Order: sequence, then structure tokens, then C-alpha cells
Amino acid sequence: MKVLIIGAGGREHALAYKMAQSTEVDAVFVAPGNAGTALESKVSNVDINPFDFMALARFAKNERISLTVVGPETPLADGLVDFFVSQDLPCFGPCKAAAQLEASKVFSKEFMTRCNIPTAKYQNFKEIQAAKAYVREQGTPIVIKASGLAGGKGVVVAQTEEEAFTTIENFLNHATLGLAGSEIVIEEFLEGEEASFIVMSDGQHVVPLASSQDHKARDDGDRGPNTGGMGAYSPAPVVTPTLHDEIMKRVIQPVIDEMRNMGHPYIGFLYAGIMITNDQKINVLEFNCRLGDPEAQPLLMRLKSDLYVHCKAALAGNLDTQTFIWDPRPALGVVMAMEEYPAHSKTEELITLPQSISEDCKIFHAGTVQTDQGIITHGGRILCVTALGNDIKDAQQRVYAVVKQVHWDHCHYRTDIGYRAIM
Ligand code: AMP
Ligand code: GLY
Repeated sequence: MKVLIIGAGGREHALAYKMAQSTEVDAVFVAPGNAGTALESKVSNVDINPFDFMALARFAKNERISLTVVGPETPLADGLVDFFVSQDLPCFGPCKAAAQLEASKVFSKEFMTRCNIPTAKYQNFKEIQAAKAYVREQGTPIVIKASGLAGGKGVVVAQTEEEAFTTIENFLNHATLGLAGSEIVIEEFLEGEEASFIVMSDGQHVVPLASSQDHKARDDGDRGPNTGGMGAYSPAPVVTPTLHDEIMKRVIQPVIDEMRNMGHPYIGFLYAGIMITNDQKINVLEFNCRLGDPEAQPLLMRLKSDLYVHCKAALAGNLDTQTFIWDPRPALGVVMAMEEYPAHSKTEELITLPQSISEDCKIFHAGTVQTDQGIITHGGRILCVTALGNDIKDAQQRVYAVVKQVHWDHCHYRTDIGYRAIM
């Protein structure tokens, strides 16, 4: 069987690596992939843009691809799955209507309100004066969110009224995020610890993946600007068995049921970002219609059962027949990024990688390109070094031992990934 993975990041490298382990899979293609996917056994890159739906479908037909998995949110929100399904091509991921849960925060907040899913108090705005009046009334800190997809740049936790007003003006007036910021959600600031709760669904049945947690702030101590994620680990001790049941009952099941009622069953990975307060109250911060990046890297290193078989069963509506087997050992991943990240950078620098690393450790690539000179950086998040360990601390030590052997000139990484899970 042949598998096609859409995307080019660390999550897609982890998906390709995991699919290649399936005894049912002979070849995995990644469109467009990165230097890491190109080096993986059974895996090759195909130079097709994830937004060129026609070219992707043509490739899938010609190669008789038996499963396509879409990694990133934008092609999902643009309807790649709908297009593949219309061509009778098996494709795992939510349809365009279901992907709105991530693509429109206005849709997602209204959906949560309708289904009584716990979430921060909020209002939507298209108009600056009304938005400012709401901030004045509610006080700070307060959270301003662009409704549309903004690649991790759409959320600002404003500490002062001035910062809130500047953000409102930037989004609504100066269109710094383009159309994505033409409508905003202003919501109550919540305090607590965040967890990533990711499940797989076939539209009716749901299987929760192992719990995980990422670090969104760029710098040590969870300081600095918000990013796509600087590191992650699984399991997340903050998700106790009681909270796990509560999240399934009050968050996940209502989403799956309501999507089915609305006529577009949710098939794919569903990610709920949950804020857990000190007194164990839960609130949904966001939904993503895909696996998290970098959560996917430690999660898929822990998954021992066959992801290809699980995805095919989900497409057949038989997810309830599947048993997911997890390595009991925790896994942890540290993202190595460009110094400028999350600001844009196109600097190309030669990467030095260790000659060999142990079996329980894996270097997942993201922004890398293979050239005649060697592997070079291609901006943003570059690598995610991931390891299994006897406990989180052991996994952390294994990862940082490898991180120290990786080099390029302007590299940035956090030195404290996993600290919340290490007592
Ligand atoms: P989102 O894309 O909505 O998850 O927001 C990105 C990040 O902003 C989250 O992971 C949180 O760290 C932070 N955030 C979002 N909403 C809130 C909120 N209501 N209160 C506090 N922090 C938030
Ligand atoms: N790591 C957070 C995300 O994938 O959105």
C-alpha cells in the first residue's frame, strides 16, 4: 500500500516515519516534505504544493495511493478532503465545514456556547469603537483573537488597555493579519495550566490519544512571544483520569455529536487546547482540526500500534474496532528554531547533525532543505529532537544530550522543556 502525507513540518515528518513502520505500507510520499522525510526509509518527497489540489489528486490517482493524511490546517480549511472525497480518493482529515472549528474562532465560540462546552466568556467584534468599549468595561488582562487562521500570530494576551487597543487597531484597522483579523473575538483571560487533548474520530466513534502538553512561549520559564510550540511531552500528568473523563464527556463527545447532527461528521484528528485551573476546572481555549506540532512528535514516538490501520479503520467508520497501544515510557521533544523565530527568517545556515543517536531518540525535521553542501535551515522551526525515557526527566536528559550535538550559527531552543512535569 502507498500513503501520501500532505505538509512539510515536524508533524508531517513524524506522520511519515510512523506510517513507514506499518507492515502494510510499502511506500510513503510527502508533499512537499523536508530534508528529514527525504532521508527516511520507505519515504520520498514529491514536489507538489499542498494548495495545488488538482496536482495532489492527480498524483494520488496515478500512484494508486490508498491513504492520504493531511497534516496542516490550511489545506483542511480550504477543502482538500472534500476535493479528494469528490474524486473517490481516501483522505483522512475533517471536511471544510468541520475544519471551521479551527479556521473560524467566531464559529468555534458560537459552537461551544450552543453545545454548553466550557469556554471563556467572550464577544465578537468587527468594529473598533465597540471592541474598545468592551475592553474598558471588562478590564485587563484580556485576550484578543483574530477569528481566522493566522499561523500562530492571531492571539494576543493584552496586559494593559493600551496593548489591547493597539492590537484591536492592528487587526481591524491596519489589517496586519489580512482577512483573518477582520473579525475578532475578545475573551476573558484564564489562568492555569494548558494541556493538549487530541483524539481521533470516524465521525461517530472516538479514540483519545495519549495526553500531551506543549510549551507555546518562546523562552525559558514560559516567557516571550507566543509561538506554534517550542517543545512537548506525553503523557501530561496534569490530565488526571478524572479530568480525562470530564474532557471526553463535556468537550469531545459534544463536538462529535453536534458535527454529525449538522450533517458533516467529524472525521480526523481533533485537538482541544484545554486550560485547567488550580481548582481543576476546565475551559476550552481553542480547537485545532489536526494533530499538534510539536505534540505529534512525542505522541507518535509512543504509539506502538499501526497508525495506517487505525486511519483506514476510521475512514471505514470502524474506529471502535481499534486498540491503540502506547509505549508506557514518556516521550519529550525539544524544538530547535532560528534565533528570530517566531519572526520570519529566511537565513540559510548549514546544520551539523550527530553521526549517530540511540534508537529511542529521533531527530524530526521541519524547516530543512537538502542541498549539495548538506542540510540547511529554511526558516522558523528547524528540528524537533525527541526521545523516550524511563520518566520525563530521563527523556529530557536524553533529548538535551542530542541537542548539544546539533549546530548551526543562529539557533534558539528552550532549555527547560518538560519542567512542569518534573517534580
Ligand atoms: P489559541 O490559539 O486560542 O489557543 O491561543 C494561543 C495561546 O494563547 C494559548 O495556547 C494560550 O497560551 C493563550 N490563550 C488563549 N486564550 C486564552 C485565554 N482566554 N486566557 C489565557 N490565555 C489564553
Ligand atoms: N502546538 C500547538 C499547535 O499545534 O497548534
